[in-house]
Amino acid sequence: MEKYIVKGGNPLKGRVPISGAKNAALGILAAAVMTDEPVTIENVPLVRDTDVIIQAVKSVGAGVTFKEKNVLEIDGSTITSIDIQYDQVKRIRASYYLIGALLGKYKEAKVALPGGCDIGSRPIDMHIKGFTALGADVDIMPGGIVWARAKKLTGAHIYFDMVSVGATINLMMAACMAEGETILENAAKEPHIVDVANFLNAMGAKIKGAGTDVIRIKGVNKLHAVTYPIIPDQIEAGTFMVAAAITGGDVTVCDVIPKHLESISAKLVEMGCEVEEGDDSVRVISKGRLQSTNIKTLPYPGFPTDMQPQFAAALAVAEGMSIVTEGVFDNRFRYVDEMFRMGAKGNLEGNTFYIKGVEKLMGAELCAPDLRAGAALVLAALAAEGFSEIEDIHLIQRGYEDFDGKIRSLGGHIQIITNEHDAQKFKLKVG
Ligand code: EPZ
Repeated sequence: MEKYIVKGGNPLKGRVPISGAKNAALGILAAAVMTDEPVTIENVPLVRDTDVIIQAVKSVGAGVTFKEKNVLEIDGSTITSIDIQYDQVKRIRASYYLIGALLGKYKEAKVALPGGCDIGSRPIDMHIKGFTALGADVDIMPGGIVWARAKKLTGAHIYFDMVSVGATINLMMAACMAEGETILENAAKEPHIVDVANFLNAMGAKIKGAGTDVIRIKGVNKLHAVTYPIIPDQIEAGTFMVAAAITGGDVTVCDVIPKHLESISAKLVEMGCEVEEGDDSVRVISKGRLQSTNIKTLPYPGFPTDMQPQFAAALAVAEGMSIVTEGVFDNRFRYVDEMFRMGAKGNLEGNTFYIKGVEKLMGAELCAPDLRAGAALVLAALAAEGFSEIEDIHLIQRGYEDFDGKIRSLGGHIQIITNEHDAQKFKLKVG
């Protein structure tokens, strides 16, 4: 089984290119099949999750061609089924986007219930409530298959009880080919919501208000070809910004949209880092030991929940007490026990982690519990004394393109190993 082996202690320095946003790509790759004309998508992050969606649309007959490394052409005209049997699809939560896309275009979809990171209970009741409001019948069949179908979809006024990224994107897709107007109230406002809306509009949809909490969608009969670049990944960029802070380094994340990183930059400044914003880059310079601070995660434009584990890792070696409160998911602290094994101090009470910063963490044998917790453990290992090995790295590879390669390009000592011999070779090489 593949693992990361890491030798901590090297400050990360240099410039790192940021890939396309995974959580925009997953919606856009699903939405691409809603037209019968070829769609070219640029800046597609090559990560496990996007591969699952690509294989899923191929499994029902869509044409998928890589025109360049991160440039995909998708042709939805050759789809022959609405029944996504591809068995991997249930492993990622974003598989539910295929319901919205196929229901919108064909008025029927059968897709396995989402899997994805285990960060608490993650129902899709609001997705189903929205599809039903548009006139669909939705059943959960044996084996966790969601079956949605409608004679026609009619615009509706839908109010989300909770802010939901997935439900907002899913309903934008289903509603953009419904008859009449749909209003989504209490919609999510993340940058990737806006990106999916911009993509659909570029294909001829009529979506207004994405990025605010009220989105208005006027249904159209047909969508058309488009070439569209995905926005840069806010969370990958944030992860490398925290990597600079926790290792005492100086890293510039490139090809980013600094506005999307404002809450992350502000928090790093609170912790004592210097942050310099360029037009499409952000530089984070560590100015010595980090200072403690408090974090409460909230839907955008609040502090992003997907950055919570990474910041907790940095606060574990900051001066003083910090409080991290998770306001979105009910189980996003599965990295805490792993951090304790590295010598982190603190205590977890419900959805609040009280952290007492220590001078140094110690390398350990670790296991990635989920995507962002796994990334946080890599950051902690890069800052720790000695060697660490991290298992279940496939969870990290779900959302980070060439994570270890990008870290090595910044001077970090990390490698993928599959056996003890590789580990010994690495240890001899880095000393
Ligand atoms: C998306 O998940 C992202 N995943 C998550 O990123 C991200 O953490 C999350 O949005 C919040 O920003 C993708 O985009 C593929 P939600 P999603 O619906 O859509 C509850 C990562 O690390 N809820 O906004 O599943 C839900 O349980 C991943 O890249 C319902 O109760 O998140 C959660 O508590 C992890 N019923 C809250 O709402 C529903 O029908 C927010 O979930 C839907 C959601």
